[in-house]
Amino acid sequence: MVSAAPVRLADYSPWPFALPAIHLAVDIRPGDVLVTSRLDLEPRGGAEALQLRGVDLEICSIKLNGDDVAGDDYSYRDQLLTIHSPPSKPFVLETCCRIDPYNNSSLEGLYVSGGLLSTQCEAEGFRRITFHPDRPDVLSRWTVRIEASRASCPVLLSNGNAISEEELTDGRHAVTWKDPFPKPSYLFALVAGELREIRDLYTTASGRAVTLRLHVEEGDEPYSTHAMESLKRSMAWDEQVYQLEYDLDEYNIVAVRHFNMGAMENKSLNIFNSKLVLADAETATDAELERIESVIAHEYFHNWSGNRITCRDWFQLSLKEGLTVFRDQSFTADLHSAAVKRIEDVAMLRNTQFREDAGPTAHPVKPAEYQAIDNFYTTTIYEKGAELIRMLHTLLGQERFMRGMATYVSRFDGTAATTEDFVQSIVDGAAQDGQPLGFDSERFKRWYHQAGTPELTVQRQWDAVKGELTLELRQSTPPTPGQTEKQPLVLPIAVALVGEKGRIGEEQLLVMDGDQASLTLQGDPGSAAPALSLLRRFSAPVNVQLEQSLQESLQLLAHDDDPFSRWDAGQRLARQVLLARASGEPDATVEAALIQALRQRLNAFDGGGGQDLAVLLALPGTAELEALQNPVDPPALYAARREWIAELGRQLADPLNQLLDVCRGEWPQAWPAGQGGRSLTGLAWSWLAAAGDAEARNQALEAVSGPSMTLARAALRALQPMEVDERDLALDRFYQRWQDKPVILDAWFALEASAPRTDGLQRVQALLEHPRFDPLAPNSLRAVLGGFTANVPVFHAIDGSGYRFMADQIAAVDRRNPITASRMAKVFSRWSSYGVDRQSAMRQAIDQLAAGELSSNTAEVVAMLRT
Ligand code: PHE
Ligand code: ZN
Repeated sequence: MVSAAPVRLADYSPWPFALPAIHLAVDIRPGDVLVTSRLDLEPRGGAEALQLRGVDLEICSIKLNGDDVAGDDYSYRDQLLTIHSPPSKPFVLETCCRIDPYNNSSLEGLYVSGGLLSTQCEAEGFRRITFHPDRPDVLSRWTVRIEASRASCPVLLSNGNAISEEELTDGRHAVTWKDPFPKPSYLFALVAGELREIRDLYTTASGRAVTLRLHVEEGDEPYSTHAMESLKRSMAWDEQVYQLEYDLDEYNIVAVRHFNMGAMENKSLNIFNSKLVLADAETATDAELERIESVIAHEYFHNWSGNRITCRDWFQLSLKEGLTVFRDQSFTADLHSAAVKRIEDVAMLRNTQFREDAGPTAHPVKPAEYQAIDNFYTTTIYEKGAELIRMLHTLLGQERFMRGMATYVSRFDGTAATTEDFVQSIVDGAAQDGQPLGFDSERFKRWYHQAGTPELTVQRQWDAVKGELTLELRQSTPPTPGQTEKQPLVLPIAVALVGEKGRIGEEQLLVMDGDQASLTLQGDPGSAAPALSLLRRFSAPVNVQLEQSLQESLQLLAHDDDPFSRWDAGQRLARQVLLARASGEPDATVEAALIQALRQRLNAFDGGGGQDLAVLLALPGTAELEALQNPVDPPALYAARREWIAELGRQLADPLNQLLDVCRGEWPQAWPAGQGGRSLTGLAWSWLAAAGDAEARNQALEAVSGPSMTLARAALRALQPMEVDERDLALDRFYQRWQDKPVILDAWFALEASAPRTDGLQRVQALLEHPRFDPLAPNSLRAVLGGFTANVPVFHAIDGSGYRFMADQIAAVDRRNPITASRMAKVFSRWSSYGVDRQSAMRQAIDQLAAGELSSNTAEVVAMLRT
């Protein structure tokens, strides 16, 4: 295993040079690329050697103030170029290097994706392009000249504005770009190739005309409208809500097929995974359309939260990511249903981030050290980071929070900041009204350094005479790797009482910042104890320990005015049902009560706003069930879920069939309209089909050939877990229809790989050799291998064959693409929670992986799994 010394937050020191300007000349040739870089360097303070990063660069020349640097005046080893004694006055360093993007499968730096040359520099990819400090606190003004053959690369893009175009001999041409805003190297981008352009115009609030250009492969032009409209909505929203306007004359988005992540916010030249650009109702589901809208928004919002104000170092990653996720969540909530958005985000947080926080890769929102920063693009940095911003917003309210944001922007625009800078700005801006802050901001900052999900334990006492409910609350955070001692955190806890006619009295916000707190809520004297609506809107990212009776959950489900708490009550009951079934002892009382409550909801539904009902009916995710099971038995949980779905289908057949009648009218409505009806349809098909309803299976099969991708995919999901002819027919029809569209075919690969068949493993092997499978595309890899790990009976086979297979695949991917491999290795993070047999089988697979030669990225993850 490659093992590098870890990088520590505590070791931060500024770079000893300033780099105000960079001139790049990129010469694209058929077999390689020459990169000439001119760095204007200014020593700051003492005489120090100049150290620049460089990975896989072949040096052609190095010149200092125009003269060749002699061989013993520099060294290049261990990815570091050292100029031993640079001048003490400002100087110019010019390097020329040869790089080979045509054989770069890591998808970092400059690489080829389907004939297109494109870059990915976050976090540390720029060092694969040329020598550079490659750290986010070194900001420069960039000029970039790109030269290539016009035939193969008619389009040449980089950041900022195109300032000149040249026609050269031999069919070559060049374009020069200049970005007026100083930026770090991770925001550099370059794209060269043959692309079709879709153009639009946006006029900002202050009247700046911005040309919007979307660049896609030939033939994909018709699928660009949704992304373009989403971009315009994002630009308008940031003006209205944050008073932040776009700052350049053009904004470019390029879609590429081979991309490790979702998308990248390079200044004025966003590069997107093509699955997050290309979409319409026939080719993408409603959920995908919403996701595309939110990612377009996310990258656009980075222009202020990330680009204009960037991160001092990578430990501050959540400074831009947590904040930008919070901003994109708010955007989606404003444009669509705020309640549904919050519920979906909490479900995702509980099923991904809480799991991470409870396992061997747990880390704080601001980690203290890392080996490979790529391993820290996690749900903790992103989603938990967003929860921290949301808590600040809850604690301060909209107006004070926005004043804080304005303070942050005015203090730090054009600089590289820290999360402390951010919190202090928010607090200072909020306090401009002279009112007390309402919480201890120093204690709040602990959230950034402390890993693990806090447990909130609540006990209560009802005084019927006075009508008072007294709560005793305690918080504690379980130990996480390397962090055994935990401190109390600031928890904003929104609570209310709920009686048979709805909420009693006002909601209260308890701000807890010690181990214990108590609170008294006023109810109706002389009445029975009211239900407790706790942690409304999920006001803090914690696990709650509170005894709640069936009666109380039903009361909340029926009468709580907070949609999140209502949903949560239903989820609690569903979790009880599923866990009881998984343990082999179904709870008939809870099952009957839950079915009765769902029946009422279904009967009351008469169309419109169906998304609320759809989330209410959705079953809890596997990860949150596993967190409540000890030892975890994935096949038992999987079987329990399938049986419960079948039971729901049998018991609720009549209302579900009526539901289908009501929803059919909404099928043709264009997103975002009609999505409720389509969601409910999918749910009804899935439940009815599981109960053996042939008519539902038929309807589903037909939808696979219909005009709505949402319905087609819902149909496939309904049929896929079952051994029925319609399943194979449906999968086959889908394949036949979409075999030429890789982005869509990935959904087919995922469904095939996760189909619980007895010969599942052989089938997955065959998929990896399928002619349409592209082993260099992370999307395809995730579809097949991610689909496989979701194939519970096959992946978790008790003989360990699924685990061994996965370990082999991860090792193979690691040789080509360490970033994607190390992300995949995290599928083994739950090993110690399983029963003995699975535990030792999974542990063996991890050891097998560790024994091979691994990239430092994957080695770091594997080492975390083994401690
Ligand atoms: N910064 C990107 C985003 O959150 C994510 C990303 C990270 C993309 C690293 C590529 C590489 O929008
Ligand atoms: Zn981001």
